[in-house]
Amino acid sequence: MVISVDEKTSVGTLLHPLRIGSLELRRNLLLSPICGVSNSAHRILCKEHGAALVFTEMTKAKMLGEENEKTLSLASYFPEEHPVGIQLGGGDPDDMEEGARIAEGMGFDIVDVNSGCPARKVTKQLEGVALMSDPALVGRIIERMVRAVSIPVTIKVRLGLTHESINAKEVARVAVSAGAKMVTIHGRTAQQGYSGTSDWERIAEIKAALCDAIVIGNGDVRSPEDAKSRMKQSGVDGVMIGRGSFGNPWIFDQIAHYLEHGTHLPGPTIDERRETLFRHYEILGQIYEERTQHIVMRRIASYYTQGLPFATSLRRFAQKIRLAEDVHFLANNFFTAEFVERPREVLAKAGVVPDETPEPCEDELATCS
Ligand SMILES: Cc1cc2nc3c(=O)[nH]c(=O)nc-3n(C[C@H](O)[C@H](O)[C@H](O)COP(=O)(O)O)c2cc1C
Repeated sequence: MVISVDEKTSVGTLLHPLRIGSLELRRNLLLSPICGVSNSAHRILCKEHGAALVFTEMTKAKMLGEENEKTLSLASYFPEEHPVGIQLGGGDPDDMEEGARIAEGMGFDIVDVNSGCPARKVTKQLEGVALMSDPALVGRIIERMVRAVSIPVTIKVRLGLTHESINAKEVARVAVSAGAKMVTIHGRTAQQGYSGTSDWERIAEIKAALCDAIVIGNGDVRSPEDAKSRMKQSGVDGVMIGRGSFGNPWIFDQIAHYLEHGTHLPGPTIDERRETLFRHYEILGQIYEERTQHIVMRRIASYYTQGLPFATSLRRFAQKIRLAEDVHFLANNFFTAEFVERPREVLAKAGVVPDETPEPCEDELATCS
């Protein structure tokens, strides 16, 4: 059944299954590709808490065929992650075709083209968001990939390079004509980086222009209310969530529940937060050697402290994680009911000096290397 945009504006139908080419998703809530974060540990937890499709961090298509340890770790996944997508970066149609073929051979369910990364080291090679300056090239890349594989090929774009050169509609049209089965739009320009806000009016215009294509909206969905209002406003087929899931894999089920029932699920208890922190740490241990596991854990543990008392002090502690004992100390002292009730006492007992400076916002914690 095709659901019209008007019908979709009632709360009940905003949440629905989604078909992307041959891939059937149980619901229309997706996890973004996020370098440094959307590894298997984050993906598994988001999956368990309601994300219907998860993506790897961007992996360079050209490197995929090489026995490069970093690339293999970026492109590995566990069976329970299915359906799982890989996001490829690259600007050469040969590399992208070959990358798609390898990705399909690795068992990925979907392959996405990165046309949104604004990092200089990526754009200077005419990759990432730089692809938007050449829609015809986007068309050639997608066409070659679509011909090479039977899994769906998709693309993630920004609005354009600058405010003066917004062309997401054109790029999306070209991509869909070339066979892309889904277009995700992050409603910022490359020039904006992560500043300002995602422009959902523009996203709505693109969805309206590409009415038959699957269009996913992205940017600044941090709560069930955000998801509902953005979906209503734009008529998109689903939302993709990035930063709102950092230290918060529960966001997907929370959104689904709100869209379905109009009420909020209770947030995770402090015990659930502690257990989830430990699980995140354990899975990181299965994908990285110990030193990397602890370096990555510094950032991940910081995300999980959001909303806890004296989070700035806890984050300072998290930045020093070097050993398993540090993770256990953090979790067992501060992710506890006792800490939530009597934070100053627990900090004093643990020998951590309370920092009274206000909480930084999540954006300040998020940097793409
Ligand atoms: C630290 C960081 C890393 C990111 N890495 C990627 C990436 O590898 N591929 C990609 O398409 N987008 C990447 N993005 C962009 C996100 O997928 C998403 O489009 C953006 O953060 C806006 O959505 P949000 O407000 O839900 O986070 C990254 C964003 C951040 C903050």
